[in-house]
Amino acid sequence: MTATPATPKAKKPSSPRAAKKAAPTPPPMFSFKAGTGAVAKVTAGGPVPAKGCDVAVVAVYKNGELSAAAKRADIDTEGLVANACKADKNLGNSGSCRVVFNTAKAGAPVYVLVGLDEADKLSIKSLRKATGLACDAVKGLKPAKVFFALNQEVPKKSTDKETAALCARTITESFYSFSACKKQDDDAAAPPAFELACTKSTLAAVEKGAAIGHAIGNGMQLTKDLGNLPGNICTPNYLAETAKALAKQYKLGVEVLDHKKMEALGMFSLLSVGKASSEPPKLIVLKYNGAKDSKEAPVVLVGKGITFDTGGISLKPGAGMDEMKYDMCGAASVLGTMKAAAEMKLALNLIVVVPTAENMPAGNASKPGDVVVSMSGQTIEILNTDAEGRLILCDALTYVERFNPAAVVDVATLTGACIVALGHVNTGLFSPDDDLANELFNAGQNALDTAWRMPLDEEYHEQLKSNFADMANIGGPPAGSVTAACFLQKYTKAYSWAHLDIAGTAWHSGKAKGASGRPVPMLAEFVMKRAKA
Ligand code: BES
Ligand code: MN
Ligand code: ZN
Repeated sequence: MTATPATPKAKKPSSPRAAKKAAPTPPPMFSFKAGTGAVAKVTAGGPVPAKGCDVAVVAVYKNGELSAAAKRADIDTEGLVANACKADKNLGNSGSCRVVFNTAKAGAPVYVLVGLDEADKLSIKSLRKATGLACDAVKGLKPAKVFFALNQEVPKKSTDKETAALCARTITESFYSFSACKKQDDDAAAPPAFELACTKSTLAAVEKGAAIGHAIGNGMQLTKDLGNLPGNICTPNYLAETAKALAKQYKLGVEVLDHKKMEALGMFSLLSVGKASSEPPKLIVLKYNGAKDSKEAPVVLVGKGITFDTGGISLKPGAGMDEMKYDMCGAASVLGTMKAAAEMKLALNLIVVVPTAENMPAGNASKPGDVVVSMSGQTIEILNTDAEGRLILCDALTYVERFNPAAVVDVATLTGACIVALGHVNTGLFSPDDDLANELFNAGQNALDTAWRMPLDEEYHEQLKSNFADMANIGGPPAGSVTAACFLQKYTKAYSWAHLDIAGTAWHSGKAKGASGRPVPMLAEFVMKRAKA
């Protein structure tokens, strides 16, 4: 991003004609398009490094045991691989990684050896960790093309295709970088191309897996870019433009409802959140028709799109408030999932709905105690303007009834209380429907993007009672993430519904500050399984 340049001192125009000439050129607008950067390319290769592969990644196990690819590497290097394992007893353990230069042969690849512990105890989790470590080592070597053989180490509960998909996705994740807002792009080098190892018999499975992993990686890139962009760039309008660009690229249906249309629909809860901002709120609808039967009931994903959450009149404390630019990560993740689904050409109908607004304080902002009428007709007493996510989601959840959905999943950075409950490890999963809850739980486990189920007992609804409206928008300190989910539940009686609270999982704080791309892997897995059925 370029800062607004100092306006050159304009000379006083002497005539109207000269005035025209001297009109200052407007400052260049920030023109970064989220999700359009280079993603590491991952395809199926062959059984051995192809010509032009500068680096080869192979697995080694505990006690010097070599994988099939490592055995070939040992022959290629005239024993250097086995020697490295003998010299370093730690090599082979999970978390170990060593670069072996092939001093035996000119023009041969550099080998990256990665430890996987014990072959018969191999899990997708340790494979992902090893893939990440290998990618870090590869970065230092700056190759153009990498032969990657870890996907040939298939855990017992997994398949060639699933393993290839996980490796491909992890590779694209590892090579993600965000420098769109820097003048100098430090990571300008394009990520290398990766070829996953395969044999004649596994070629088809590895090819499919690589394509799946690459599509999910692409979706995650869009999600991370949107999350990382600052609030002055990633506005409700920017999200709408991103959706339109996706629609153009993948031939999706798109509709963006403006203030007037939302007013006509009675979305006064949603509108109350955006009304104090100069960025107008929007409701974005994206439709993908992949099912053979175009009338088949769609899966609907709804994502919270608060592009910045100041808290409104119930203003948040200043420290760390910048992180509230991530309050649109629900929106970013459903858009990312749509991108992945469209790229995989999944055989299902998928609709993504994003209510989006900026939560600001101003003279015309909502005040604590204000009462609004939602699209459902239920009234809400806004006791805290910082509980705004549920206020935009409830109208979107009523809106999606018109699609007669097979299932609705909303995704939101909804509560700080969810971070207290589950930390940054698991997404909060809420659903009154056991089947849908299990489906999402299992999708999270398979995709290594996990969620933990939380309760929705009737008793919690008590906390939302209001003396002045049908409900209050907060339920007090106890079980804050649960009462937030209970609030949403009051708008979802017409269909099978689940809610994902991603406040703890959508981004990393601290040194590695940035969007995580979660829960795109879980949602992609969920829609992939739905598509097969
Ligand atoms: N966007 C926040 C939730 C949040 C907080 C996400 C911290 C990630 C990190 C949400 O809009 C919010 O402010 N929730 C309040 C609710 C409260 C007022 C009932 C919260 O969690 O404090
Ligand atoms: Mn808030
Ligand atoms: Zn919020």
